[in-house]
Amino acid sequence: MLATAGSAIGLGNIWKLPYMIGVNGGSAFVLIFIASIIFVAIPLMMTEIMLGRRGQKNPLDAMKVLAQEAGVSTLWSWVGGIGMLAGVLILSFYSVVGGWVLSYILSAMEGVFTNISAEGAASNFNQLLAQPLRLLMWHSIFLLLTMTVVARGVSEGLEKANNILIPLLFAILLILLGYSMSVGDMSAAFQFMFSPDFSKVTPTAILAALGHAFFTLSLGMGAVMVYGSYLGKHESIGQTTLFIAILDTALGLLTGLAIYALVFANQLEPGAGPGLIFQTLPIALGSMPAGNFFATLFFVLVGFAAWTSSISLVEPAVAWVIENTKLSRKLASTILGLIIWLTGITVILSFNEWQDVKIALGLGIFDSLDKLTSTVMLPLGGVLMAVFAGYLMKNKHINEELRLTGWAFRFWKITNTVIAPIAVLIVFLNFFGAFENFTLDPFRH
Ligand code: TRP
Repeated sequence: MLATAGSAIGLGNIWKLPYMIGVNGGSAFVLIFIASIIFVAIPLMMTEIMLGRRGQKNPLDAMKVLAQEAGVSTLWSWVGGIGMLAGVLILSFYSVVGGWVLSYILSAMEGVFTNISAEGAASNFNQLLAQPLRLLMWHSIFLLLTMTVVARGVSEGLEKANNILIPLLFAILLILLGYSMSVGDMSAAFQFMFSPDFSKVTPTAILAALGHAFFTLSLGMGAVMVYGSYLGKHESIGQTTLFIAILDTALGLLTGLAIYALVFANQLEPGAGPGLIFQTLPIALGSMPAGNFFATLFFVLVGFAAWTSSISLVEPAVAWVIENTKLSRKLASTILGLIIWLTGITVILSFNEWQDVKIALGLGIFDSLDKLTSTVMLPLGGVLMAVFAGYLMKNKHINEELRLTGWAFRFWKITNTVIAPIAVLIVFLNFFGAFENFTLDPFRH
């Protein structure tokens, strides 16, 4: 359970959710995101853990075993295959952002944030983005940290550390929230995030919110399946899922509040994009008493959370390679690490030298990878798993794992067979239908 929490809690909560709220117009996005968590992500997380515990293998082979058990085509194993690819693609940009966090640890230690102004914080971040070599160094360090753990296959110690570090991250976020409340504009933040404003509900925002529900809970690519395979037979899948989903969502929304209180008090731009937390949090951290200490601790904890998440992005692919080829774990990790490192370099360049390079739908490299994975591959992978479990698996087998009764089982069944597939289908159709009518790029903020 801790490992799954470690996978779920990461940059998705602290970095991605807050900036996406701003880019997608605030409260409407937040409400759709919460609804996606409850009606799609939670039931699908139960499914993914269940498939993993029953399959006991890497995602691709687990799906193969389960398909055989259910008496259906082993082509279902491709669901696991697509998932592993998604993980590798996500890590290519996740590691770059993880690198930003590492570089912020150093800045915090050096006292760069002490009494920093809003302009200072923004220019600090922009300077980082403008230096490909600096970014490359941090991306390399972050990826090396990740791949070292994966190559050794000993993430256990790291997972035990979650025991202390996740509560600590929560605690420091609460301190930050409290401080942000005193220096920032919390009522504006609340208004922005929670007062329903349905005029801002666009197909892009809906798709983004749904996609992020998958991203933040690590769903749809088999990461949770791998951890599910380690979950003891007697642990309750339902309780594990609920606990993680609530913790994860709360962490993200609290970070959002802390950030938007600062954004509105300092007349910053809510739609600033991927740099948002790096341009806002230093302002609060830098003006707090013992600010250097808190800033360092904060970025260390975020870096740690990112580290445990990134391991889960690549572990399924490594597991598949070593179980299906003669390569050792070390060699498999090295090869996959190199592929991710190289793809990451293109992501780095998309923030500076290749800023104008557009690859898909008029998007740059970073945006394309992010959109392709979060809004296409993960929802698709997740829904295919739901359809598989909901329609093809034998009830007896489902019950042996899930052990849900009464309304809880009915909720699981109807969300997996009807609600989640239809929601994803409608969101896809709506998005692509709306896309035809756009003359401009729908992702341009
Ligand atoms: N959930 C993590 C986060 O929020 C990221 C992550 C880890 C992930 N493993 C994943 C996302 C698998 C999708 C699929 O930072």
